[in-house]
Amino acid sequence: MKLNTERASLNISAGFLSQFPRNPIPQIAFSGRSNVGKSSLINTMLGRNSLARVSATPGKTITINFYDIDGKLFFVDLPGYGYAKRSNESKRAWSGLTDGYFTKNPNRDLLRLVIQLVDSRIGPTADDRMMIDWLRASGVPFLIVATKVDKLNKTEREKAILDITAFSREHTPLEPIFFSSHTREGKQELWSAIHALLP
Ligand code: GTP
Ligand code: MG
Repeated sequence: MKLNTERASLNISAGFLSQFPRNPIPQIAFSGRSNVGKSSLINTMLGRNSLARVSATPGKTITINFYDIDGKLFFVDLPGYGYAKRSNESKRAWSGLTDGYFTKNPNRDLLRLVIQLVDSRIGPTADDRMMIDWLRASGVPFLIVATKVDKLNKTEREKAILDITAFSREHTPLEPIFFSSHTREGKQELWSAIHALLP
């Protein structure tokens, strides 16, 4: 599939299942804890500065944002999890919407890949592990992207690559990608992994 990534726009910021777009085009979803760098990664992948909102106050709104790329593909920004200060009501909204995306989504068969973000400085948290177990159970292909690698020094980087690669291999056949939105390291590699799953 040839994609003009410069033709990207927000289709809808959906707070309800009924708002999910019906366009019959493939979807790539992005999952991760709040503040892991999801919006920054989407902007970097699309070569944009501020298409996806980068927030200083994490975990504010519970929406699933569908970005239309060239009318041929959706990037789906799932709501972040693990935000400690979230109210119970907001936690319920997160579960309802996220579970709905995977189990009640009429276009679920168009979901080609979930990109599961993990902070390279922290490694997989308890919440990340829960999400990954859930992705495994759902049967959708997923790969792990370790974010913010520019923040690691040489020793930390070597250790993160060893640890996260070992962790990833226990859970998915797809190899992890080490990524930075600041240096754009990993961008081409992630596009290759995405294109491998598209027609
Ligand atoms: P929520 O939407 O609030 O759940 O967060 P998010 O996962 O979308 O994270 P976001 O992209 O908003 O980034 C959170 C913070 O991390 C921001 O201050 C970013 O500037 C910073 N950040 C994101 N990616 C990188 C990266 O690759 N390197 C560094 N150094 N900082 C990053
Ligand atoms: Mg975000």
